[in-house]
Amino acid sequence: MAKIRRIGVLTSGGDCAGLNAVLRAVVLRASQGHGWEVVGIRKGTAGLLARPVEARELDPADFSGVILRTGGTILGTTNKNDPFDYPQPDGTRVDRSGEVIEGYDMLGLDALIGIGGDGSHAILRRLALQGGINLVGVPKTIDNDLGHTEVSVGYATAVDVATYGLDHLQPTAASHSRVMVLEVMGRDAGHIALNAGIAGGADIILIPEIPYGIAHVAAKIEALKQAGRNFALAVVAEAVKTEDGESVTQLQAGGHVTYGGIGHYIGARIAEETGAETRITVLGHLQRGGSPTPRDRLMASIFGVHAVDLIAEGRFDRMVAWSGRRVIDVPLADAIAGYRAVDPAGALVCTARGLGICLGDA
Ligand code: F6P
Repeated sequence: MAKIRRIGVLTSGGDCAGLNAVLRAVVLRASQGHGWEVVGIRKGTAGLLARPVEARELDPADFSGVILRTGGTILGTTNKNDPFDYPQPDGTRVDRSGEVIEGYDMLGLDALIGIGGDGSHAILRRLALQGGINLVGVPKTIDNDLGHTEVSVGYATAVDVATYGLDHLQPTAASHSRVMVLEVMGRDAGHIALNAGIAGGADIILIPEIPYGIAHVAAKIEALKQAGRNFALAVVAEAVKTEDGESVTQLQAGGHVTYGGIGHYIGARIAEETGAETRITVLGHLQRGGSPTPRDRLMASIFGVHAVDLIAEGRFDRMVAWSGRRVIDVPLADAIAGYRAVDPAGALVCTARGLGICLGDA
């Protein structure tokens, strides 16, 4: 096995709380545990495309407890511009993977830790196979949709923020006798909506995995009213579709399309069907920033240490994961392929139904 002296680390994809805590764990374990240097690469693969390459050695002295508490990523990140399909100013696309690998080689690294979600891991793995890069992955995504790990860094904080959102909406809903609709992120998976909805006492939770009928939602609100309740709380995952089966999306600068706006559609339909005064809150990127919860700090620390130790053991092309109260590692290919949405027959859906929460179906 080749001797390891110097490793790289990068954050890729949408940011989330806990990324800096992973970086801290990587730096501390690599330097104190193995005597290695750690190079932080800026803005995911974009830093490797830049010339000069955007990267710097990370000094363990900078990784005090402060960084553990800090949201975002000190390295920067990007969730666009796949180097294999890189957009050009004239609208065409080119493969710039060779330049990324060249940038990696310039840094003289023996291995790389990529902190990302499924999309980032797929790109990084392709680069690793093409460029002979010794890659280890750490799962992060507020969406918690990566396969083979029960949790990803950032997810716990996002659920907390969404739950606090409901906590803040409930008193004002009750004061004004309103229906409050909270739209949360999660991309194509309803994990944030379902978990925060249960934890925050929602009456209605709509997730993309369970088709809804607005008549069922209206019936729930009517039933609450009949039982003497003067307000209702609804959580809607951003990828829930309209009744016509259309996704509600926003076109961002540069042609990047994101979900956003289904809360307004559902709110308007509830108002039409029930006559209830309805207000909509789109929680958005509040779910990604802020200080990580203790749970996210813990998972970040566990994953960071294990990722470094995998490199020390020469076990590459793997992703660290959490399963059955243990840190494990799985082939990166399996993690990428094993997309994990909400199981409509799973324990949490059963819990929601057991609590009488309307999931939009009969
Ligand atoms: O994947 C994380 C995520 O926050 C999704 O939940 C959301 O749909 C998307 O990223 C938003 O992306 P952007 O940061 O480009 O607005």
